[in-house]
Parts: sequence; C-alpha cells; structure tokens
Amino acid sequence: MKKNTILAVLMAMAAMTAQAQTYLDTNAPLEERVKDALSRMTTHEKVQILHAQSKFTSAGVPRLGIRQLNMDDGPHGVREELEWNTWNPAKWTNDYIVAFPSLTCLAATWNTEMSTAYGNAVSEEFAFRGKDIMLGPGVNIQRTPLNGRAFEYMGEDPFLAGEMVVPYIKAAQANGIACCLKHFVLNDQETDRFGINVNVSDRAMREIYLRPFQKAVEKAHVYTIMGSYNKWKGVHCCHNDELLNGILKKEWNWDGALVSDWGGATNGLEAATGGLDIEMGTYTDGKTKESEFGYEMYYLGNPFEQLLKDGKVPMSVLDEKASRVLRTIFRTSMNPKKVIGNQCSEAHYDVCRQIGEEGIVLLKNEKNILPLDPSKWTKYHNVLVVGENATRSLTQGGGSSELKTLRDISPLDALKKQYEQMVDYAQGYYSGKAMYDHVDKLDEAKQAELKAQALEAAKGADLIIFIGGLNKNTHQDCENGDRESYDLPYGQNELISELAKIQKNIVVVTFGGNPYSMPWLKEVAGVVHCWYLGSESGTALVNVLSGEVCPSGKLPVTFAEKYEDYPYVQYGKEAYPGVNKEVYYKEGIFVGYRHFSSNNVKPLFPFGFGLSYTKFAYGKPTTTMEGDNIVVQTTITNTGKVAGKEIAQVYLSAPKSNVERPVKELKGFGKTKLLQPGESETLRITIPKEELNYWDETKHGWARITGPYTFNVGASVDDIRGKVEVDN
Ligand code: BGC
Repeated sequence: MKKNTILAVLMAMAAMTAQAQTYLDTNAPLEERVKDALSRMTTHEKVQILHAQSKFTSAGVPRLGIRQLNMDDGPHGVREELEWNTWNPAKWTNDYIVAFPSLTCLAATWNTEMSTAYGNAVSEEFAFRGKDIMLGPGVNIQRTPLNGRAFEYMGEDPFLAGEMVVPYIKAAQANGIACCLKHFVLNDQETDRFGINVNVSDRAMREIYLRPFQKAVEKAHVYTIMGSYNKWKGVHCCHNDELLNGILKKEWNWDGALVSDWGGATNGLEAATGGLDIEMGTYTDGKTKESEFGYEMYYLGNPFEQLLKDGKVPMSVLDEKASRVLRTIFRTSMNPKKVIGNQCSEAHYDVCRQIGEEGIVLLKNEKNILPLDPSKWTKYHNVLVVGENATRSLTQGGGSSELKTLRDISPLDALKKQYEQMVDYAQGYYSGKAMYDHVDKLDEAKQAELKAQALEAAKGADLIIFIGGLNKNTHQDCENGDRESYDLPYGQNELISELAKIQKNIVVVTFGGNPYSMPWLKEVAGVVHCWYLGSESGTALVNVLSGEVCPSGKLPVTFAEKYEDYPYVQYGKEAYPGVNKEVYYKEGIFVGYRHFSSNNVKPLFPFGFGLSYTKFAYGKPTTTMEGDNIVVQTTITNTGKVAGKEIAQVYLSAPKSNVERPVKELKGFGKTKLLQPGESETLRITIPKEELNYWDETKHGWARITGPYTFNVGASVDDIRGKVEVDN
C-alpha cells in the first residue's frame, strides 16, 4: 500500500473512532455526549450510576471509562476523609483543610464579591482532594432562631440568600466542582427532620422558601441539588413528584441531578418515579442498618431494576435519570477544565479572613469603647478575656459540617499576639464535648467554680472581653436537633451580668449561627456578633476589635428582644416544632423582618443592622428604567473619621397593592468600596422588574403588584434614609 493510502486509512479509522466515541470527545456538545454514552450502556450499568457505592461516592461505568462521582460535605470546607464504608475517620494525614466562615457569616457580608471568592477558594480545596460534588451551600430560610442548622444557611430573607448564593455557585462550578444545593426544600428545623410534614401556603412556598433555590437554578445553573428529609404534602422531598418533577425539573427547566439526603429515600416506587436521580445513604441498606456492601439493595439499585424489568416503571424514566447523572459526570469528574486546586494555601486563608472580617457585625458600641486601638492602649493595663469560645475550636461538632483544620487561630491567641502581656484569661463556664446526638452532663460544681474564678479575676481587670455565644454541641448549632432555648446556654447570661457589675468596660463577643436574647444588653458597653469564622477566627475578630478593619457586616436575620416576638410563636406548637409530625407555617409570608416591620414589633436589632466605626450619609435616591430593570441610585458619603464600607439596602413598599404584602421587602442592596473619610460613591442597585411580582394563588402563577410603589433606601430595614416613588 502506498504511504498516502495508509495515511488515509489511518485517518479514516481515527475519524471513525472519534465519531464512535462522542461521549469521550470533550469538544462535542454535552447533550450528544450524554446521548452517546447512554446508547452504549446496559440497563444494569444505567441503574448502577443511580445510587451510592460507598458513603460518599456513586459509581461510574468502568467498562466505558466513565468516571465515578466523589462527593463530600460541605458547606464550609472539605470534610475529613472517612473510611469507604463506615463513618469512622480514615485517619489520613493529608486531609487537613481550611475551614471557611459559616454561610450565615457570608450572608452578613452582603458582598457578592465575597461569595465569588468563597465559592472559588472552597471549590479549589474540593478539587485538590479529588472531589467532584461539594455538598453545599444551603439556602433554607431561617424561620426560627432555634434551628440547629441555621449557621449552614444564609439568613431569613430569600432575596439576600438568592443573591449571595448565585456567585458562590458560579465560581465553584467554573472550577469543575458541582455544588449540591441543600436541602430542597422546607428543611427549616432539625426537630423531627426525618419525618415532619410541612404545611405551607403556596404563596409562602414560592415567595419565601423556593425563591433562593429558583435563583440558583435559573441564574447559576446549579448542577446538583440535595432533596431534604422532611415531607411536603405528605411526601418526602427526596422523591416528591410535584416538587421535583413538577416544579424543579419541568417548570424551572432544570437539567441537573437530584441527590437524596443521606438515607432520605424511604419508598421504592416514589424513589423510582418521584424525581430522585442519585440515592445516597447513611447506612449501607439505606437508612437503618449497616451491612457490608449492600448498596445494590438501595431503592435505586436492584429494586428499581426489578420495577423496570416488570414493566412497572418505563425505561424512559431510567434514561432520564441516567442522563442527568452522566451530565453531572461530564461537568465535573470528566471535565477537562476542572482545576487541580490547592489546599491550605495562604490565598485561601486570606479569603477566609476577609469574609470573616466583613461578616462580623458590631451591634453595640457605647461611648466608642471599640476599637481597641493597640497604640492607644495606655488606658488599659489589665485586660481579662472570659468565655469558652475564646479558646474552643468551633469547627468541631455541628454534624456533617464538622471540619479537620490544619490551623485554627483562636480569639485568645490572636488577642495575646495583638496586646501582648496585657491579656489574662478565665474560662468562666464549660460546655462539654461537641458530639453528634449526644450532650455531656455538666458538673454544676465545676461550672460554679469556673464562674467564681472569672468573677474574682474581673476584680483586677480594667477591661473585660467576654467571648462566648453558642457552639456546635447537640442542641446548640448542630444537625439533627434544634436549640432548646432562645437564651445563651451554660449560664452565660448570669455570668455576663455579674461581670458587668464588676467592670462596666465590658465588650461581649458572641459566636453562633442564630440570634439569641440579651437581657444584659444595657449593662455592657459593646456587643460584637461573629457567626462562625473558621480557621482565621481570632485574626478576623482581633482585626475588627483593634480597628485594623472597620466593621461592615450587617444582620441577615432579625434579633428579637424575646423569643415570643418571632412570627410563628403566637400560633403555638402547631407552627413550631409541630404536633404529631405536622407543622403549619401559619405566619405565611410574614417570616422574619416581614413580620416585625408589618406588625410594629420592635426587634432588639433589626434585619440589615450593623454599626461601623465611621458614619455614612445617604444622598437622595433616584430611579431610572433600563429595559426590564429598575436602577436605584444613591450616593453614600463617609462622614466619619476612619475609612469604612457601607451596605445600602432597598426595600419595596406597595401600600396600594391589590394583595396583602409585607410593609417592606428587600429587593436590592449594594456595598460600597472602602470609602476614605469624606469620600463618596454612587451605588447603582439594579432591580429586575420580576422582583416586583408576587405569587398569585388563584392563578397559580406570578403576577405584578399594582403600584404606585416606593423604594425605601436605608442602612437597615428600620433605618430608612431616603425614598423614591415609582408609578406602575
Ligand atoms: C445531612 C446532609 C449531609 C449528609 C452527608 C445528612 O445527614 O443532612 O446535609 O450532606 O448527611 O453527610
């Protein structure tokens, strides 16, 4: 054969092979790759990719070189490596990671650039650890301040949560890591989480609870979503036909894969037909017991194959599920653009610290006790730090979000570094180990002794920094159980009051994912709330306390003065935590500040509130129409003495609306750059007109409110600085 002919034959063969293996051709359109892969798979192979093959992986198709999916928690960093088939740590030495701040802290930054930085950095750690799916972030709504998992979510407002989650997902997915958005939907309490049936009006469901998920689907094209354990309309959300096939896949046109929460599938036929694509489990037989390699017994394993063989479920259902999983594989584990990533880089610690610094909220600052500028510290000689959270690792505990960190800078260490020999420490109280589903019995004598020691030490102090709050113990901020009280635990309220009697120069610093009561508020000079700050906790906190960073975080949740002020409490147990596993969201759309501002209930600290070390003046707001958007502009000027950032919020009021509406609803926000004293910035806040819609229950669709309406521009929901009227 001539040379040319050989070449031609080889080229033709190569072309045939290439054509034959479209699914491996990364330049081919995704849908063609999926179709091609599907056409080569047996029924059994298709079923195999629909369920777990270990605690955190689902299978690929080894015969075809189609890779498996490696998943891991989420949402604040990559979880410690566990054994393949148990919940025991695998004891690796290279799985120490950066713990990023809690998502509530991210929401408190109100800075979408921080979301991008977070999504990028955390996904680089997932990629480096060989993961494809990050189990997070979460956007369930903080309906109750007792929710044990609120720290994993982004506050009480669907607009804020939706806007903050979109850049996070986009950044993570651009790195080839799928986000698995949690927990779809109505997983708003941990009490009875496996079985509670949520009764909620269609309007509240659409406007409040589904809204951030919808944004993540429509604006960020999130690749995977995790179904929640609870029920809606009597059906578990992991295989709820109306929710998953109806709303998510059909109405929102979502093409991703629905992953069950671990052990969240409970019924064979529903798992087969209710919109579930990948079944994951807590135990090898799904939920109840451990057995060796029993993953084929999952509902979406052998039982599903049997249903297909018996003709009880059509093959099209199998192809649909398998296509969604293949799409996910091509987008992640077989994505040539997936980054290599890195772990514990200084760049990641920087992101962690910056989010922490911007998310910390200054709640009270009487007589400018803060900042504690180290160069002007001549006035204090003996600083006493009190409280367990000054030294406790808050990345331990909490449930699935627990993290194994390489370095954790505690508040006490950072304070000692900053203020050198002036800092003393007394623990003041103790709380026992952070353990899932277990609460240590606390020794009252030990508690009393710790308190006495702190009070004694306080006598010699000229400044007290109390560092307490919640922690990740069961029945604090921890999965599978809610808080049992709105008060701070472990006798902290009494301790703070007594310390304040001894020394009025007292600043209270709290960690926690939830609001809490502050009966001692008037007795203390300063209050700083930190959420959870991750690996750089101490540095971020001390940078704010010292004035190195001017605080700019604002609350993504309302702090009520007393628990009874939260909207659902007036309706009794039926409204929370439910009776006989039925809970009724009787407050409807009036969740969080929507209730406080509409019913004139004065909160302790309103939604959107946060102090600064400087002051900001707001210019008169204006609006312009730009296509389908309304642009609200406002000029913010730093009128104080130090550089700082301000968050301006836009709340919609529609007093003449044809339907009942909250008095104010967040519809836009913007954060300035770091403004020097005297400097101004004009914020342009774009509000798509669709944000003015409400869910019309009679028409079962979105409808535009009737005008005229007002955009209230302010520093918090209760601090409106300017208004602008808009006609319909
Ligand atoms: C949690 C999920 C988590 C999963 C795997 C479940 O109990 O609800 O959020 O991703 O466990 O750890």
